Amino acid sequence: MIELRGSVVETTTDHKMPYYRFIVKLTTIFFIGFTSDFTAGQQDRPCEPRKFGESVVCVCNSTYCDDVIRLPPEPGTYVSYTSSLAGLRFKKDKGTLEQVDEDTSMFEFAGIKDKLTEPKIELDCAKKYQKIEGFGGSVTDSAAINWMNLKEPCLKENLINSFFGKNGLEYNMIRTPIGGSDFSTREYSYNEIPENDTLLRNFTLAIEDFDSKIPMMKEAIAAATDEIHIVSSVWSPPVWMKNSHEYSGFSLLIEEYFQTYAEYYVKYIEAYAAENITIWGITTGNEPLTSVMGGRFNSLGWTTELMGKWISQNLGPTIRKSKYRNVKILAVDDQRPTILIWFNKMVQEHPEAEKYIDGIAVHWYLDKITPPSILKHTAETYPDKFLIGTEACSGANPTDVMKVALGSWKRAVDYAKDIIEDLQNEPSNLCLDSQGGPNWAKNYVDATVIVFHEDEEFVKQPMYYAMGHFAKFLPRNSVRIDATNTGLIGIDYVAFETPGKTYVVVLYNGALDQTVKIRIDGREAIVELPAESIVTVELNSI
Ligand SMILES: *[C@@H]1O[C@H](CO)[C@@H](O)[C@H](O)[C@H]1NC(C)=O
Ligand SMILES: *[C@@H]1O[C@H](CO)[C@@H](O)[C@H](O)[C@H]1NC(C)=O
Ligand SMILES: *[C@@H]1O[C@H](CO)[C@@H](O)[C@H](O)[C@H]1NC(C)=O
Ligand SMILES: *[C@@H]1O[C@H](CO)[C@@H](O)[C@H](O)[C@H]1NC(C)=O
Repeated sequence: MIELRGSVVETTTDHKMPYYRFIVKLTTIFFIGFTSDFTAGQQDRPCEPRKFGESVVCVCNSTYCDDVIRLPPEPGTYVSYTSSLAGLRFKKDKGTLEQVDEDTSMFEFAGIKDKLTEPKIELDCAKKYQKIEGFGGSVTDSAAINWMNLKEPCLKENLINSFFGKNGLEYNMIRTPIGGSDFSTREYSYNEIPENDTLLRNFTLAIEDFDSKIPMMKEAIAAATDEIHIVSSVWSPPVWMKNSHEYSGFSLLIEEYFQTYAEYYVKYIEAYAAENITIWGITTGNEPLTSVMGGRFNSLGWTTELMGKWISQNLGPTIRKSKYRNVKILAVDDQRPTILIWFNKMVQEHPEAEKYIDGIAVHWYLDKITPPSILKHTAETYPDKFLIGTEACSGANPTDVMKVALGSWKRAVDYAKDIIEDLQNEPSNLCLDSQGGPNWAKNYVDATVIVFHEDEEFVKQPMYYAMGHFAKFLPRNSVRIDATNTGLIGIDYVAFETPGKTYVVVLYNGALDQTVKIRIDGREAIVELPAESIVTVELNSI
């Protein structure tokens, strides 16, 4: 919850969190590692479980980390991956697609009740919806500094590979702040001095970029199996551009610096390009509502009138006329309800701003009080804009007493259900950024991976696997397809066609053990879903 975030205080102890020293704010997954032994290197390294809370966490150190290898299904077969409350983590099973009995269809025609109501999920690849842009995590100062502070090079590598590597979650997106954020150890921006420097003559990146964020991003890019799309957001510009002259608190951009602030973005993209890092997209600013509501941490407020003017007269034309004209411009970058103001109202007031905006970025903290249909409606109203999720975290709610709940299966389920819900309501692209916790600041949030610096180990939370059930198996440009449930109770699911022409179904079973038949093109996979499990099934129906 946004109100909880803020204050730049280095804090490493808290009585509620006796277990760990730092949290790395990236999310999840496995690492790549050499697949060592076993035939054709197809054997995954299993989870090294440690019992916590309702479920288990998986422990990684410098010499061991569990991983998951995606096994492409042979024609006419499927491969499933199961994680469960009881402790399964990406347990892999294979099976053959069975011909759906002709007689069965006859029975259905005849209206024989048993056959008709046979529980199943039927995929319809003729009905297509949005494309997947990708899944990823945040490289903030906190995440990068914590990662740099790991002493063991192999542990650092295991962490990167867990998120980005071939035997990890294969993340293909990164979100990163432009300058400082609430996940930093100090408040800062670029070109802080000299003041009033409209030409930004003294623009340089910060020590955090050079020493931590850039090295971490380079490692991630090197480990990744696909091009990583980096989305960057400003939390606060230099204070001399703001009427408040402060990083936090309510503020607006001084109109005299509207053009300078647009050029600030170009300078940033250019500075990263000089480091050989390509910025794929920028947002119009992290959570403007935070500032409007009092600004508990670095932020910049906007009225719809001023933002529309700035985008149409400054940011848009400046980016499009620059060498970086293909960089995507994402609006909103705030909670779901703010789509109504930072996009709909703004575009009404400044229609010319719309042509510069490629997509809409949304955060998830207020999802519980905003229906997902707001996403659907937005996508229908602006069919040429894509929607991406740029922030998500668990444990951020004021009622979550345990900010980090080791072994929490419930949070894994929240993730899975939210992702399924979002995917079903966004007829456009999606990227997810599961924010882990910061190591400073008092707004502890949970993370998919928690690092224990003193023990030189990290643990993968159930949430890591929840993210992985989507991220790993839904490559960029996978397309959501229609899927109909007949007779299955207690199941949430979503289905896709991948660019490799396989079908991927992600299911959450909140009920007892049950069997699900997944039908495609007259054949079916018969998959066992254990009680309280998240299961990904990849089918090859060729
Ligand atoms: C790392 O973990 C593995 C598997 O649990 C264990 O066998 C090994 O001793 C650990 N290594 C270190 C250095 O702690
Ligand atoms: C430029 O910025 C650096 C800090 O990034 C500062 O040390 C230096 O004094 C600045 N130069 C001028 C001319 O203000
Ligand atoms: C920057 O501009 C503000 C507002 O015009 C002014 O008060 C301040 O003295 C200026 N600072 C410098 C270093 O010129
Ligand atoms: C960027 O890449 C070029 C070409 O590969 C190389 O010559 C240069 O040293 C790199 N620069 C940095 C800062 O890594």
